[in-house]
Amino acid sequence: MFRRQFFFIFLLLVLVSCQNNTSTTESANSSVVKEGASKKSLQSDPVYTKGLGLVAKSDCLTCHKIDDKLIGPSYKEIAVKYADAPNDVITALAKKIINGSVGNWGNVPMTPHPSISQDDAETMVRYILTLNK
Ligand code: HEC
Repeated sequence: MFRRQFFFIFLLLVLVSCQNNTSTTESANSSVVKEGASKKSLQSDPVYTKGLGLVAKSDCLTCHKIDDKLIGPSYKEIAVKYADAPNDVITALAKKIINGSVGNWGNVPMTPHPSISQDDAETMVRYILTLNK
């Protein structure tokens, strides 16, 4: 009889310690979710998603990569050079996408993109500048 009671107490202890385990893994999981949320906030930023879509639809990625120099500078380099750029710089960079550009990064020219609107070009620039992270 005494042995049975002992066994139940033992079982109870095992159960309680298991419950503790699940609650610690749960809180560990929720901190992982929180870390993921800051990355998600960039992806839910409409400028980021719209700019990314416009860049992907155009020919930009034949000359630019996000992390490495290709024919043009990497988008990260551009984002670092123009970090916290005021609106008039963004306007000017958008005009360079439309009219073409040479001499700021070297002697290789960026071809003009006359069919892109000023608005869309500014959204592309704002998207590129979010990559400074
Ligand atoms: C034919 C290759 C090519 C294509 C296509 C191209 N680029 Fe470029 N891009 C370049 C080069 C080369 C430079 C550096 C120009 C310079 O030195 O002034 C550049 C520079 C830039 C800059 C920085 C300008 C500055 O004055 O610092 C931005 C922003 C940019 N490109 C965005 C874009 C976007 C957005 C697209 C797509 C619509 C695009 N590029 C398409 C080659 C290209």
